[in-house]
Amino acid sequence: MVTEGRLRAAGVTLGYERRTVSTGLDLAVPDDSFTVVVGPNACGKSTLLRALARLLRPAAGEVVLDGSSIHRMATKEVARRVGLLPQTALAPEGITVGELVARGRYPHQNLFRQQSDADRRAVADAMDATRVTQLADVPVDELSGGQRQRVWVAMALAQQTGILLLDEPTTFLDIAHQIELMDLFARLHAEGATLVAVLHDLNHAARYATHLVVMQDGAVVAQGRPGDVVTAELVEEVFGLPCLVIPDPLAGTPLVIPRGAAHTAAD
Ligand SMILES: Nc1ncnc2c1ncn2[C@@H]1O[C@H](COP(=O)(O)OP(=O)(O)OP(=O)(O)O)[C@@H](O)[C@H]1O
Ligand SMILES: [Mg+2]
Repeated sequence: MVTEGRLRAAGVTLGYERRTVSTGLDLAVPDDSFTVVVGPNACGKSTLLRALARLLRPAAGEVVLDGSSIHRMATKEVARRVGLLPQTALAPEGITVGELVARGRYPHQNLFRQQSDADRRAVADAMDATRVTQLADVPVDELSGGQRQRVWVAMALAQQTGILLLDEPTTFLDIAHQIELMDLFARLHAEGATLVAVLHDLNHAARYATHLVVMQDGAVVAQGRPGDVVTAELVEEVFGLPCLVIPDPLAGTPLVIPRGAAHTAAD
């Protein structure tokens, strides 16, 4: 059953020319949630996120945003409501950090792209929140992978949408920057944003998600509160990974401890 909410996929069939990834998939993003999507490589997470952001048109079914089919809405109209941080993004050659982040404001501007005070404030705030202000005049090509990732996050934040889709936002980041960014997302969520993030780190997912969605082979196989969803059986079944799941000593959320070959009991 797909319940009403701002954003949902209703019976979508998704794929590419020669490959169907998901068939008849339903997913309702709970309003005001911090939804995290996990699942093995190639199971269809990015494909789903691209469909939710209107970048991929479903072969069947529809994505519904605020009661309308997203593919019948104008691009700008969608971009003011839903922001996407893609898994891989290429910056135009030679563009500086400041210029790239400012592009997040395009959906709010007219054809002449005159920056308003609100635009400048949104860009400054986004760069501040992701700690890239010092890099404003540096060409994006000259950044490290982690710095670049934070700049893309800044661009998505500058868009100031109520719904933000984040495809592996913490990839390339060192552990401190990962937590800093997850805390930033948690803060945005507390301030009222609805977030949908694809993550590979199950422990981060369990700590930060208010709603966890587990995908396998293009389908949603489990969803709910992380404490109810993340079990050793599920992780073994979905990822083929023998593990222990214990309560995170700080947060109380599930903590996945992989066994690895050295700690897997022989049958
Ligand atoms: N542009 C494309 N053209 C054709 N096939 C694609 C394209 N993008 C993805 N696929 C295929 O669709 C399937 C799902 O890919 P998707 O990128 O959604 O996986 P994912 O769950 O995001 O994986 P990962 O964790 O590796 O990012 C894969 O089999 C992939 O090879
Ligand atoms: Mg992906």
